[in-house]
Amino acid sequence: MPISVVVPTYNEADNIKPLVEALARAFAGTPYEVVIVDDGSPDGTAEIARELAKEYPVRVVSRPRRLGLSSAVVDGARAASGDVVVVMDADFQHPPELAPALAQAVLSGAELAVGTRYGRGGGIEGWSPARLLISRGAAALAKLLLPEARLLSDPESGFFATRRACLASIKPTGLYKILLDVAVQCRPSKIAEVPYVFRPRRAGRSKLGLVHVADYLAQLMRLAGWRPFKFAAVGASGIGVAEAVLYALRDVAYPAAALAAIEVSLTSNYALNKTWTFRDREMPWLKGWLKYHLANFAGIAANYALSNALVLAGTSRYLAYLLGVLAGFAANYLLSELYVFRRH
Ligand code: GDD
Ligand code: MN
Repeated sequence: MPISVVVPTYNEADNIKPLVEALARAFAGTPYEVVIVDDGSPDGTAEIARELAKEYPVRVVSRPRRLGLSSAVVDGARAASGDVVVVMDADFQHPPELAPALAQAVLSGAELAVGTRYGRGGGIEGWSPARLLISRGAAALAKLLLPEARLLSDPESGFFATRRACLASIKPTGLYKILLDVAVQCRPSKIAEVPYVFRPRRAGRSKLGLVHVADYLAQLMRLAGWRPFKFAAVGASGIGVAEAVLYALRDVAYPAAALAAIEVSLTSNYALNKTWTFRDREMPWLKGWLKYHLANFAGIAANYALSNALVLAGTSRYLAYLLGVLAGFAANYLLSELYVFRRH
């Protein structure tokens, strides 16, 4: 059995039969199985799936309660017998007729094949501009925080194929976005993309709620090793270092003492970020130190530009400066991640 299609379900009673039939058509002539992982759906999805198993190559994994899409996929992979696993939703938002193409890409050597909405030829039907923007923003954030996500045009996709061994070994870090775990924990280097159009749900309702938005942000932080928080902590430590230098140089005139305080704290920030925040990245000490000056300069420029603009627009100078500090932090982090400590 080379191919298993893992389908997590929660209340998909109206979709599961048409999906199993569509997969039978799509895989006609190729050996495959469908592993349905149901979390005790009150609408009887599991019962329908067990009925289907009499007629189709379907296996049902029943879990006692709603434990999340990501862990459902991992449990499905553990129960699957295929070397290659295709992961897809039950609601026809992921076109079943493309499942064989994803599996084929992995059978012919890709470590990961991803159905993408954002590649050439892909798309989304029926979303408002606001929803599109949020989705794009979520993907951009993933790409900023995780170098692994930069290899994917649609890092949030729930439609993909990979080796069973990879999926079965995953420890989910979130409820929904299993592909991010695959990208970070399996580190696939050969990646194929298959564009598809994400259509409205065939029947039933989306299971995505506000809790999943918060969970997504927490997942990104876990996968990024809490890097933005470490970066902020280092920045705060720099203030202490600068104050200490000012004290040590209390007999030196302020302009000169301040310059020394800035340079010493910048260097200590750099050393801490290099050996702690970004310790997984390779970067020669001196080259990184020079680049770090540029990143900080950009941070200060961002602070100065934004806070001035805000004051001109009538904001109080105290609030304006605080927002400026946030903008400076963002610019500094962005450049540290993508320029100073970039992963090659
Ligand atoms: N077993 C189980 N447990 N299944 C679940 C759970 C759960 O806790 N939550 C959701 N599911 C099932 C649904 O029944 C459906 O088959 C699939 O997982 C996706 O759930 P939807 O509620 O339809 O998600 P979505 O359409 O908002 O988002 C999906 O598509 C996006 C684009 O590919 C997800 O796959 C996202 O992760 C993905 O980004
Ligand atoms: Mn859906």
